[in-house]
Amino acid sequence: MPYRTIIEPFRIHSVEAIDFPDLPQRQAALDRAGYNLFGLHADEVIIDLLTDSGTGAMSSEQWAGMMRGDESYAGSRSFYRFEAAIQKITGYSEIIPTHQGRAAERILFAAIVSAGDVVPNNTHFDTTRANVEYQDAEARDLVIAEGRDPSVLHPFKGNMDIDALEATIAEVGVDRIPFVMVTVTNNSGGGQPVSMENLRAVRAVCDRHDLPLILDACRFAENAWFINQREPGYEDVSPLEIAQEMFSLAHGCTMSAKKDGLANIGGFVAMNNPEVAQQCRNLLILTEGFPTYGGLAGYDLEAIAQGLEEVLHPEYLRYRIRSTAYLADKVHAAGVPVMRPPGGHAVYLDAKGLLPHIPAHAYPAQALAVELYRNGGVRGVEIGTVMFGKPVADGPDEPAPMELVRLAIPRRTYTQSHIDYVAEVVIDVAAEAESIGGYRIVEQPPWLRHFTARFEPI
Ligand code: F0G
Repeated sequence: MPYRTIIEPFRIHSVEAIDFPDLPQRQAALDRAGYNLFGLHADEVIIDLLTDSGTGAMSSEQWAGMMRGDESYAGSRSFYRFEAAIQKITGYSEIIPTHQGRAAERILFAAIVSAGDVVPNNTHFDTTRANVEYQDAEARDLVIAEGRDPSVLHPFKGNMDIDALEATIAEVGVDRIPFVMVTVTNNSGGGQPVSMENLRAVRAVCDRHDLPLILDACRFAENAWFINQREPGYEDVSPLEIAQEMFSLAHGCTMSAKKDGLANIGGFVAMNNPEVAQQCRNLLILTEGFPTYGGLAGYDLEAIAQGLEEVLHPEYLRYRIRSTAYLADKVHAAGVPVMRPPGGHAVYLDAKGLLPHIPAHAYPAQALAVELYRNGGVRGVEIGTVMFGKPVADGPDEPAPMELVRLAIPRRTYTQSHIDYVAEVVIDVAAEAESIGGYRIVEQPPWLRHFTARFEPI
């Protein structure tokens, strides 16, 4: 049935009402929040595409699992289910639960990153970069050139530039590189996948220099689906087997279960090295909790164990990736510049392309994100110079490589008509692009400024 609509592979079991703030209410909310969409209250938003992290709907099987949650402090049954679910996919022996992805990063990096180190990655996510920098180390992004250009078509725009990795190792020296990291899919670079061939090539470089390879595995299942769809030789390999092969090429991973764990909270660090795992567990006890719960409730461990099983179902992944592409294709067909091909979890609007009259230091992607909210109550997030630019004393910010607005799609949450509405808002705002002006920052913290900075229109 090749011409039939790919439908949501579920029916709705419980619903949550959405609010419809009108234009004056949305303007008042913007004024109060200092034009920072992180400052909005959820009831001021109509369609919330701020993040796909922890915002998805759980299945009836996950809710059933939550009722089985074992809240024992030590040795909970739920931990062993969680551990087995992760071991089945990753093959790693050491499984350490954390309350979310950045806690996994914080713990792993505190154990093995030292001041002056350099961590190569295809592209660090914002918290990953911040956690590297918090150890006084440098986070270096080495994605292929195609991955930095929103309009170039390439099946694996998340790939790491192997020559740049070799050059970094030659420049810095292996002693100052604690590990190489690859983010699947490459969130900050447009939710773009990494091919198995590229992972194999990165691993070969790591082996030559005796460096560990760590996956930032938040969206490993979406990456596995792209490999199945796009990489020769994987057409008939299941998402589970592809994921197993991806993890087998690395020595360990950090994970936010709020993405491809299909859960509302949770994460883990996993690896085969028992000594590093022991250091991580020591830190875990200090800040997260005992190693069989790591800051999570027993019921969270159950929800994640079940989610990790469901996320690899081909019918789920087919729907997931297709429904994201549906939004991207619709706005692209209307002439709105958008990152192509579409990523797995989000559509990235190219604000540099749409608002060429706004320079990077006046934050074109922030301006576009504000306009989508003002016009239609749609909340996205700026991924541009606000998030990744560098403030310069007495001068304009050093710009980020791209100015994107990310519309992240929560998993199993919105239907096709919600997404049609979002496309209409994007197209209406794009039609008035010339009248959109830039912003200046009036208040900002020393790091991760995008969460709390305040802006005013120029
Ligand atoms: N790594 C990647 C690639 C991520 O996308 C995220 C979170 C993290 C690590 C950190 O995980 O949130 O559980 O602490 N990304 C969310 C987002 C927040 O909106 O993309 P966390």
